Amino acid sequence: MARRPMMAANWKMNKTVTEAQNYTAALLPRAADAEGVDVAVFVPFTCLHEVGRMAEDSSVIAGAQNFYYEDSGAFTGEISVPMLEDVGARAVLVGHSERREVFGENDALVARKTKRAVEAGLLPVVCVGETKEERDAGGMWEKVSGQVRRVLEELGELGGGDIVFAYEPIWAIGTGDTATPEDAQDAIGRIRELLREERGGDFADGVRILYGGSVKPANVAEIMAQDDVDGALVGGASLEVDSFVQLVEGAGNSGEDA
Ligand code: PGA
Repeated sequence: MARRPMMAANWKMNKTVTEAQNYTAALLPRAADAEGVDVAVFVPFTCLHEVGRMAEDSSVIAGAQNFYYEDSGAFTGEISVPMLEDVGARAVLVGHSERREVFGENDALVARKTKRAVEAGLLPVVCVGETKEERDAGGMWEKVSGQVRRVLEELGELGGGDIVFAYEPIWAIGTGDTATPEDAQDAIGRIRELLREERGGDFADGVRILYGGSVKPANVAEIMAQDDVDGALVGGASLEVDSFVQLVEGAGNSGEDA
């Protein structure tokens, strides 16, 4: 089954509202020209209202980088799904390794958030990946499969093509140290096999799995050329609109469009 590629920008803790406006204004017409690829931008909460408004009638998916699974109440500092929907978010990152490693999010919380997003029809991009120590000790698959399994358990019967996974080896994030295309394919192919065992072929063949970790215009083509890689989640190289557009164009040309 041909899956539609996705190129996703993760701005992390970067950009003021004015910077976000300038970026989005430049991105929208160029993303409209990119055929056969979904373009998403995961922006800070403070920019989301504005990016969501600007992207409303466009093909660009405005997304948040985090949220909490309760709808309202005494959760100081948190943002809920209805709040995200209210400002035009259509997707959300869940369990980015910086949330897990810096802010202590565990597999149970990540799974619960994923379920809440799926129930609400907000596209979750669920991030999984191992540390350098785990990989060097031969524990990559134990870590990654455990993260994926925990999400599937929580979803129960929910979830179809309305979930995206992102394999992001932590040692490759922001380090310039990209996984080889073969490493990316190996992990992502194994995630797809796990989805097949747990949920059957239709589910496994329909779910998009992105690679993330130091993706840039110079290496996007070889990563996208891998059979099971359906796109990329990009931090550093997404901060400049020209560089992100080059990545979008690289994904659109990968020949995987539906
Ligand atoms: P990077 O970040 O592209 O800067 O390595 C990727 C990510 O954290 O999603």
